Amino acid sequence: MRLPRSVESADVKDKAVLVRSDLNVPLEDGRVADHTRIRASLPTIRLLLDRGAREVRVCSHLGRPKTDEDRANYTMAPVRAAVAEAVADDRVSVLENTRFHPGETKNDPGFARELADGCDLYVNDAFGSAHRAHSSTVGVAELLPAYAGLLLLDELRNLGRLLGDVERPFVLISGGAKVEDKIGVLESLGGRADAVLIGGKMAEDVRVENPFSFDAVLPTDVVAASTFAADAETQVTPFDERPDGWLGLDIGPETSADFSRRATGARTVFWNGPMGVFEWPAFAEGTFAVARALAECDGFTVVGGGDSVRAVHEAGVADRISWISTGGGASLELLEGKELPGVAVIPS
Ligand code: 3PG
Ligand code: MG
Repeated sequence: MRLPRSVESADVKDKAVLVRSDLNVPLEDGRVADHTRIRASLPTIRLLLDRGAREVRVCSHLGRPKTDEDRANYTMAPVRAAVAEAVADDRVSVLENTRFHPGETKNDPGFARELADGCDLYVNDAFGSAHRAHSSTVGVAELLPAYAGLLLLDELRNLGRLLGDVERPFVLISGGAKVEDKIGVLESLGGRADAVLIGGKMAEDVRVENPFSFDAVLPTDVVAASTFAADAETQVTPFDERPDGWLGLDIGPETSADFSRRATGARTVFWNGPMGVFEWPAFAEGTFAVARALAECDGFTVVGGGDSVRAVHEAGVADRISWISTGGGASLELLEGKELPGVAVIPS
């Protein structure tokens, strides 16, 4: 894979640098609820400061604000406070939500000029937004000398390993609600994998009609629930013996053991999408078992996508996974083999 030129090769001394980070973090009661993306963005900001940048202007989108009311909910103020707490340096500022400008998502050149104004260099570190061709990810890179940040490069190197010659067995595990979202990535990687394990609601769709050019391994048993509720009555049944009207909300223990054994024994694993409704304790075991199995695997393990990332954190095994992507849609598009516009625009 072509790698864009690194911020480490830029002469930033006394320069004003515009940094596009992905600080699109979950908020709760007006505070940052998960700092992962902020923490992951700090090394590039610190590198620029250490190397004597005169000014580091950080910009990002936050949420998908549409109405005037959204402007209050999606202000960068909580993110700005979190960044200031992590790097206390007067040279750093965090601009207001780029999506407050109607031109941002249209890659409007006028807004790109506004962002570039007064800056000497541009560094894109926003891997999670690299699949978007917006003013702050693409337009501005056409106006200023552009470089890739450290996180963006780490993501490309780690996820890129899955696209090259992988150590085998190579096991792909997928789940979640919608098969449409993952068809591209599963088609791209699935044909090269030694096994593709599918759980979650997705497994039911694949059982009805397999949209892939390869055979997937589907659950043999499920945790069935009488209704779609956290406190529903439950029973473990073979997949095709669920009582009428009952829903499969987790993979069953037999499937969970099989998926775990295959994941732990693999040399390369990519996991995207939970095995069930793991937000509810009664249906969390399958997803957590997969998370633990990845942690126990000695090979190269990669997790991408919001829900499975949350699951490895909740299972307490995040530090035993080789690479946890900060990108959802961006990681899937990259693994589909698509060129990410935010990366393509940066020279080698
Ligand atoms: C994400 O969280 O997926 C990225 O920040 C991109 O956000 P978007 O899907 O709203 O463009
Ligand atoms: Mg998204």
